[in-house]
Amino acid sequence: MKLLIDDADIENIKRIYSYYPIDGVTTNPSILAQSGRNPYEVLKEIRAVIGDNAELHAQVISEKAEDMIEEAHKMVDILGKNTYVKIPTVPEGLKAMKHLSKEGYKITATAIYTPMQAYLAARSGADYVAPYVNRIDNLGANGIESTKMMQDILDGEQKTQILAASFKNANQIQELCAYGIGAATVAPDVIDNLIKNACVTAAVKDFTRDFETLCGKGKTMLDCDA
Ligand code: E4P
Repeated sequence: MKLLIDDADIENIKRIYSYYPIDGVTTNPSILAQSGRNPYEVLKEIRAVIGDNAELHAQVISEKAEDMIEEAHKMVDILGKNTYVKIPTVPEGLKAMKHLSKEGYKITATAIYTPMQAYLAARSGADYVAPYVNRIDNLGANGIESTKMMQDILDGEQKTQILAASFKNANQIQELCAYGIGAATVAPDVIDNLIKNACVTAAVKDFTRDFETLCGKGKTMLDCDA
């Protein structure tokens, strides 16, 4: 499963990239609004940090398909070819997806709450479909089960993968990872929680203490005669 960062904060992105195996960054209009800055300025900065080969996902705002298509052209011109244009999965969005996929654009169908939205987006040429796991849970439905059903439905589609989004905890990601979901986009604090564990910290501390008992305070394998 690919792992992406769902954030637009440059310092967060740099920190998470320095530690973890990351495939790209996703944003949405609400995430960009948190920066209070020009969206292209922020997205260009993210592109510079992650490089040309990483995935950058950014969303169109227009309501009409024709305008979404124009936005997509401008966004990819400015942000580079490995930019996935996020398009809301509504009827006008599907119309734009059908057009843009024929033109060879990379598309992430977003705002997905139901398996049949995922089906329609895949049939309209989306490369990714992005179900909102936690927001589905908040509706009283089951985000994990809905996403698994989407995976089963998409099984016959050669091109489309799931980019699961909207997570609140590590277990949700683990369940989808074990099910073979193609990608997940996750906020920095939840990525940290994938590995944060008091038992691991204690084990590493014990190893250091035992080594220092053997070789002296502050010593490492660098300080030992070979
Ligand atoms: C991704 O496509 C979504 O924009 C995002 O993950 C939603 O996450 P949230 O439910 O935490 O806002």
